Amino acid sequence: MEMTSAEIRQKFLDFFKSKGHHIVPSAPIVVKNDPTLLFTNAGMNQFKEYFLGNKPAPYKRIADTQKCLRVSGKHNDLEEVGVDTYHHTMFEMLGNWSFGDYFKEEAIAWSWELLTEGYKIPKDRLYATVFEGDNAEKLPASTIALKKWKEYLPDQQIVFGSKKDNFWEMGETGPCGPCSEIHVDCRPDAERDQLPGHLLVNKDHPQVIEIWNNVFIQFNRLKDGSLVPLESTHVDTGMGFERLVRVLQEKHSNYDTDIFTGTIAETEKITGKKYEGTDSLKDVAFRVIADHIRAIGFTIADGQLPSNTGAGYVIRRILRRAVRYYYTHLGYNNPMLYQLMPVIASQFSHVFPELEQQR
Ligand code: ALA
Repeated sequence: MEMTSAEIRQKFLDFFKSKGHHIVPSAPIVVKNDPTLLFTNAGMNQFKEYFLGNKPAPYKRIADTQKCLRVSGKHNDLEEVGVDTYHHTMFEMLGNWSFGDYFKEEAIAWSWELLTEGYKIPKDRLYATVFEGDNAEKLPASTIALKKWKEYLPDQQIVFGSKKDNFWEMGETGPCGPCSEIHVDCRPDAERDQLPGHLLVNKDHPQVIEIWNNVFIQFNRLKDGSLVPLESTHVDTGMGFERLVRVLQEKHSNYDTDIFTGTIAETEKITGKKYEGTDSLKDVAFRVIADHIRAIGFTIADGQLPSNTGAGYVIRRILRRAVRYYYTHLGYNNPMLYQLMPVIASQFSHVFPELEQQR
């Protein structure tokens, strides 16, 4: 029987708990104490000081689901949202961390175990990417990650990537390191027979998508651009929850999973229009609204009201974009967004009760 999104999230947390991780709550989506960020853009943000060695980590192993927003700065997906079916403004990032404890081999072994034994994703649909090194930055290729992946995957399911895809940085400065991503090929068998999936990894194919990134934090990027090795090495992973659910629920679009269908059904009820999942502007509008209401709702619940400067202005722009889409493409001329909040607050009440509390 198909797992619900709630069960899929819980399975991730239970798995890492069984591997000695302490489960912590998501940090707020609005960042108040780091001038390099407006919003949380990755699960690791709240642990930045532990990586840099400025503060001792309270636990050597942590896992959680983190509310993230990628609409500004280095990680900005806004223009893709709604046009495609797998980028979001607000999304949940499932993550596990090691602070100076386990490193590449365990991280890769556990991600493989969870995906193939826990979630039962077929092994022949999984691809791993490995950092090929970078001469200008004097960074070697990731031989340890490569060796580990070779235990699980044949060569044609391992893809080498450059700094662009396989060296992760949270912003212009801060903790960073080489990474190894896991991609899933969700195409039907007939298509997979014609064109092997490794040719489509990191090529913006809507059915061959990255789901998990394992970052091996080894450096601090300074303002002058230099990389300073850290005293200890760390693990920082991030799995796109909405994408994982889409893979496990065997949908071709994140918006067809139970994370979004409730909001879309409510939008249909309010507007009298039907969502058909096509590329039409009407369907893009349904997706934009289903996405943006989450960004707006979660951010306001965390204390950031729309305003005319800084983080508040980013939220105001997302809000306006949502309104423009329903006004123009769904022909709905009354305020709509507030009508969607009860559906979302109730859907997330067991994991993010702040939505219900701040309604
Ligand atoms: N911090 C890494 C990412 O966001 C895991 O991809």
